[in-house]
Amino acid sequence: MNKHEQHRIKQLGEYPFTRVRKLLDGLTPNPKLELIDAGAGEPRLPLPDFVQPILTEHLTGFSRYPTIIGNDFLRQAIADWLKRRFSLRNIDANSQVLSANGTREALFAAAHALINPECSTKPWVMMPNPMYQIYLGAAITAGAKAYLQPCTADTGFAPDIEGIADEVWQNTALVYVCSPSNPTGWVADEAYYTKLLTLAEKFNFYVLADECYSEIYYTHKPIGLLEVAQTMGNVDYKRCLVMNSLSKRSALPGLRSGLIAGDADLIALFAKFRSYTGPATPLPLQHVAAAAWSDETHVQRNLQVYRDSLDAFFDVYGGEVPHGSFFVWLAVDNEQEFVRRAYVEQAVKILPGSYLATEDAQGNNAGTGYIRAALVDGPAKAADLARRLKTCTSTTKAR
Ligand SMILES: Cc1ncc(COP(=O)(O)O)c(C=O)c1O
Repeated sequence: MNKHEQHRIKQLGEYPFTRVRKLLDGLTPNPKLELIDAGAGEPRLPLPDFVQPILTEHLTGFSRYPTIIGNDFLRQAIADWLKRRFSLRNIDANSQVLSANGTREALFAAAHALINPECSTKPWVMMPNPMYQIYLGAAITAGAKAYLQPCTADTGFAPDIEGIADEVWQNTALVYVCSPSNPTGWVADEAYYTKLLTLAEKFNFYVLADECYSEIYYTHKPIGLLEVAQTMGNVDYKRCLVMNSLSKRSALPGLRSGLIAGDADLIALFAKFRSYTGPATPLPLQHVAAAAWSDETHVQRNLQVYRDSLDAFFDVYGGEVPHGSFFVWLAVDNEQEFVRRAYVEQAVKILPGSYLATEDAQGNNAGTGYIRAALVDGPAKAADLARRLKTCTSTTKAR
C-alpha cells in the first residue's frame, strides 16, 4: 500500500508538540536554571479587566444553546472591528461573518467544507512550508493533495507564487496564506496579496488568509486580504476568506473564539457545513468575545509587551527582528540536537523547525536548520532566553 492509499488519518504525521515531547523524553533540564518554555505559541499576559464582570453578568447564558454561526451581537462586533481595522466600506454581519471556536477548528474545517477534490479537477490545496500544521492536516483529511510553497531565506520567507506553473494554479482549489506567519514572522504586503488575488481570479481558486497574528507586529500594521480585495474592486470579497482570533490579539487562548469573514457564498457553504459539525461558542463566552473585539486598549498594551520582548531578545541575540508574530525563527546547525542541548544545558524548551514543516517530493524539509522560540513571557525572560540560546549557539560553534 503506498502512502496515499492509507487511511487519511494514518497519513497525518504526529503533531509537533508530541514529537518534541518524545525528543526530550528522558532528558532533564538544567536544575540550576528556571525552565523557560518557549515551545508553544501561547500568550501568557494578564486577563483583560473586562472578562470577569462580563462572564458574571452573562452566566445564565450557559443554560441556553448558543447559535452555531455566532449570535447577532457577536457577528456585529466582529464586522465593526473588521471595518475599523481594515478600512472596509462594507462587511455584512449577517451574510459575510461567522464566529469560530478558535480558528484552529475553522482552518481545518474550511478545506472539508469548501472543496471537493475527489470529484473535481482541482485536487491541490496550496500552503506555505513550514506552516501551521492544521493546513496540511486539513488538506490530507479532505482528500486533497498538498502543494507546498517553500518559505526559505532564498524567498525572504515568502511563499513563492511567481515560479508556479499555470497548470498547477488551474488544478488548485484553495490556497492557505498565513500573514503574519507562524513560524517565520514573514508578513504579506499589498503587492503580494494583489498578485495572489489576481491569480485567484484568473484560475478560479479560493484564498484563505490566516491573519491570527495581525495585531502583533514590530513596526507596521499588517495589511489584510479583505482590504486588498476592496482596493482591487472586489468589494464582495469573491473567493476570499479570512480568519482571525482572540487567542493572540487579546491573549485569550482559552476563550476559544475567533472570526471567519469574506465571500458570502463561501460563508453560506461553510455555515451549512458547520450546522452539522456544530462548533458553537457558549453564550457567556460570546459576550466576552464581543467586548474583546470592541476594545483596543488591552490590545495596544499587549502589543507593547511583544515589541519590548522582541527588542530585548534581539538586543542580546543580534540579527533581524521579524515583521510580525511573537516567534523567532533562528538558523542553527542541527535543529534537533540544538533543541535537546538547549533543554539539557539551558533549561529552555523550543521547537525544531523541521517539525513545523514537511518533506517535499524531493525529500527536503524547509524547516531543517531552524528552531522556533515563542516570546510569550515578557521582555526580561526574552532577554534571558536570548542569552541562553546564544550560549548554545556559541558552544555549538566551538565544538
Ligand atoms: C498561524 C496560526 N493560526 C491559527 C492558530 C489557532 O489559534 P486559535 O485556534 O487559538 O484561534 C494558531 C495557534 O497557534 C496559529 O499559530
